[in-house]
Amino acid sequence: MTAVTDAAVDLFRALTGRTPDGVWSAPGRANLIGEHTDYNDGFVLPFAIPQRTVAAVGRRADRRLRVASTFAAEPVEVGLDELDDLFPTAEGATPAVPEWAAYPLGVAWALRRASTAAVSVGLDIAIASEVPVGAGLSSSAAIEGATATALNELWGAGLDSVALARVGRTAENEAVGAPTGIMDQMASMLGEADAALFLDCRSLDAEVVPLGMADAGLSILVMDTGVTHAHATGGYRERRASCERGAATLGVSALRDVSVADLPRAQGLMDELTFRRVRHVVTENQRVQDTVAALRTDGARGIGALLVASHASMRDDFEISTPELDAAVDAALAAGALGARMTGGGFGGAAIALVEEAMVDAVSAAVRARFADSGFAAPHVFPVVPSAGPHRDA
Ligand code: GLA
Repeated sequence: MTAVTDAAVDLFRALTGRTPDGVWSAPGRANLIGEHTDYNDGFVLPFAIPQRTVAAVGRRADRRLRVASTFAAEPVEVGLDELDDLFPTAEGATPAVPEWAAYPLGVAWALRRASTAAVSVGLDIAIASEVPVGAGLSSSAAIEGATATALNELWGAGLDSVALARVGRTAENEAVGAPTGIMDQMASMLGEADAALFLDCRSLDAEVVPLGMADAGLSILVMDTGVTHAHATGGYRERRASCERGAATLGVSALRDVSVADLPRAQGLMDELTFRRVRHVVTENQRVQDTVAALRTDGARGIGALLVASHASMRDDFEISTPELDAAVDAALAAGALGARMTGGGFGGAAIALVEEAMVDAVSAAVRARFADSGFAAPHVFPVVPSAGPHRDA
């Protein structure tokens, strides 16, 4: 058992005085490439990280759900039949339960709606996590994945991984009220060791693309800036709105249907800011496909320039980077990284760098030194190995 598993089991025991019926976990994710393309019906290439969220769960004799988390002082308890009164959360409103509890309770609500099984068993759920929060590494998808996997089994709901990813997204969109796409939940649910997930966010067709990191002598570093900007949610909504405006102007249902060759025509049809937002999404979709092709022919060594181009597009066209993220990327590249880019929604959080295994320490030190020289708070720099999706731990 890992420390985080122990923490979840200990919390469960403290809550109930019993041993859980089972313990399930799901990972956070980093995105190799394909940012803000998921809600445009486009392509993404994320991978699951080793850091996991654990749910220790036990059945109750009544029809109540009680959730506890190592993040929160007080557990939250609701009746199964109250879930439909609590959710959905109105657009822009705060959830009717504390926000952390809206993730697992939102999963319970969405799972009951998605399943034909008659769900009538109450549960105690204790959650612990080692996924850094606010780092853009999808601590929320990890909570959703761990809870959905546990409830699916204990309630006999029989949903497959893609259906559980949809449940997680419904919880995030409609219970928590965050207008995100489906990349994070799919990455957490379908991740595999030493591989990325090439996902078509329109069809949800997912292909596991081997990365061969160790064989190539390569590592991926996460450079967590520790900065989460307050306007992240507003900025995300605003980017989504620009993309929808751009798609409507071009007469398509989503920017997925616009190609790089269409961009010169698009430029004449919209204001300059909307065009830059559109250009990011359209070129990023192409970069994801180019990255998959490069991985197949040259392996991970062949994708550095695509990562760098992706970061430039997010910094200049989509404007979701920050001085800290740019510093991390620049310092990693200057110290010899093959490629680097911010990962996740932006406005803070983490960047990743593709580095020779032998240079992990040197690149990490260079990033830390750049932050110190710039007067930024010390970043948290650590290597991640692409890892497996959810499993039952006990
Ligand atoms: C967040 C969202 C995802 C995706 C990314 C940007 O992580 O949860 O759905 O939109 O931002 O690529």
